Amino acid sequence: MEIKKLVEKIESHTDFSYEEIQHVVLDYTNGKISDEEFLPVVSAIYNNNLSDKCLYYLTKAMKNSGEILDLSPLGQTVDKHSTGGVSDTTTIVIVPILACLGTKMLKLSGRSLGFTGGTCDKLECFEGYKTDIPLDKAFSLVNTNGGCMMTTTANLAPADKKIYALRDRTNLVDNISLIASSIMSKKLATGADMLVLDVKYGNGAFMPNKKNAIVLGKKMKMLAKLDGKKAKIVYGNMAEPLGYNIGTLLECMEAIDILKHYNKKNPLTKACVRLAATCHALDKHIPYIFAKKKVIQVIKNGQALEKLKTMIKSQGGSIALFYQNYPPSQCELSSQQNGKVTGFETKLLGEIANELNHKYKTNKYGIITYHKIGDKINKKDKLMSLFCPKEEAMNITNKIKNAIIIK
Ligand code: URA
Ligand code: CA
Repeated sequence: MEIKKLVEKIESHTDFSYEEIQHVVLDYTNGKISDEEFLPVVSAIYNNNLSDKCLYYLTKAMKNSGEILDLSPLGQTVDKHSTGGVSDTTTIVIVPILACLGTKMLKLSGRSLGFTGGTCDKLECFEGYKTDIPLDKAFSLVNTNGGCMMTTTANLAPADKKIYALRDRTNLVDNISLIASSIMSKKLATGADMLVLDVKYGNGAFMPNKKNAIVLGKKMKMLAKLDGKKAKIVYGNMAEPLGYNIGTLLECMEAIDILKHYNKKNPLTKACVRLAATCHALDKHIPYIFAKKKVIQVIKNGQALEKLKTMIKSQGGSIALFYQNYPPSQCELSSQQNGKVTGFETKLLGEIANELNHKYKTNKYGIITYHKIGDKINKKDKLMSLFCPKEEAMNITNKIKNAIIIK
């Protein structure tokens, strides 16, 4: 009865109350309402979207379905979230940079989702690194090191876990109201005072183009504001992989490279500098340009890399492996023609790397690319190196040989 009324309201664009949506969301989370009974609510939102007020009520109900972290003992904290992307290793780069600059971040990260690798999987490439630590330990690490990267042990927004799984099974993922409430319910439950949201668009992201990304960004900013938090939105193009390496371990190696040698030509460096500077400027109320200078300084003088090493060691991990050379690749792909790089099958490259690692229960497989959009290519120039078991080389080569588009 309650569900039917709620669905009627959503379909007729009539506002519901917080109590109405909270009741249904909690009953679904607790199993009192079945998937079949709840599905019409998700469908109605998918087909009609929600007013800002109702979208906030939904988000708040999802946030309040579980634990809400109290980070106040840490003083002011900033959190950042990327809406997923291929070859996105920004977390591992920016948390130590911010720690050097006195901007505190307790980064709770997830595992791989579809075609994007998860930060926790990457952290575990540092042999021995414990992502699963108690919150009081994490607090003390933020106080001593200035930051901490871990998985979440708290039961944050369990309503989102159930609703996301239902959306995934029923092909109801790509809707702005549903994506905004999903991301923000989790972010608002993690308790940081300020948020930087990195919204990705393009063929390697959830949002197909910048126009949609801006609509999503504005909704998320609105939700943060209604919840009493400051949010800053940045947009990132995912028409190509963010960095050059794709695959858990390879991406981790690139993250280290970014901190080892400042290379402003790598788009991943640019993205990390932009995100870190945005977080730092927001935290300290300083101009972006000033924050950016400080970010580049701690990369160039090696402080950020030293900080990352300290953070890894504090969580039981070792960086030793990362001072060895890259493993030999299984095969190299070269260009069959002269031309210019005009695009990438970004999602496909991400999927291939993820599937290989899942299939062989490892993190070492993936792809290194050597070019970005706009680069001039000569026939026989090296395009990609493939890291996979021998028996897969032929099959994967066939799948990815056209993944860099040259015209
Ligand atoms: N990421 C999320 O957490 N939720 C979505 O719905 C989409 C991307
Ligand atoms: Ca769909």
